[in-house]
Amino acid sequence: MAFSFFMELIFATNNPHKLKEVGALLGASFQLCGLREKGITDRLPEDRDTLEGNAMQKARYVYDRYALDCFADDTGLEVDALNGEPGVFSARYSRMGDPVFPEMEVSAGNVKKLLIKMEGMQNRKARFRTVIALVINGTEHLFEGRVEGNITQEPAGTSGFGYDPVFRPDGYEGTFAQMDLSMKNQISHRAIAARKLAEFLKNM
Ligand code: IMP
Repeated sequence: MAFSFFMELIFATNNPHKLKEVGALLGASFQLCGLREKGITDRLPEDRDTLEGNAMQKARYVYDRYALDCFADDTGLEVDALNGEPGVFSARYSRMGDPVFPEMEVSAGNVKKLLIKMEGMQNRKARFRTVIALVINGTEHLFEGRVEGNITQEPAGTSGFGYDPVFRPDGYEGTFAQMDLSMKNQISHRAIAARKLAEFLKNM
């Protein structure tokens, strides 16, 4: 008799795109649920100063409060010439420090600020880094995905989101925003980290 096994796992996010992207990488053996589907409406804490810290803080919160196996992610763009900025502050870069662009849509402001801070800089090396933190049966695990690349002189492309228009991954002609979305989703930092998570879960 054929025997099928499904494991329910919470992804501590309300972002339907992330759920779909990571769900596809995990495959049919896993029943992936977002926070809202589980009736969890809390604003999860995310105030640590590293990607690892933030991801684990969110996964721990759900596990400790709701006794549910859970994973969470955090992503940052790390620019070498800016000593790793915006890093853990990638989501709200344009709202903090100097210069700030409170009147602009946040992603457009983030990109504008990055390009201003990098004006005249020759070294444009950068990476996207995603950390996924998993808490399962009370134990903690971390998985990392990185994509190395360069920050372009100006934005190009309309696909994707966030810093995609100014990030050109190594080995490709164009920016993430000039790439077909399904292609980006195969090679992205999030996909690399999610594949490591999937590998771990499948071997459990
Ligand atoms: P989050 O941890 O996934 O919310 O990502 C934090 C911030 O990093 C986002 O608000 C975006 O600005 C940026 N970011 C994360 N992933 C990507 C990506 O794949 N492309 C471009 N920007 C990203």
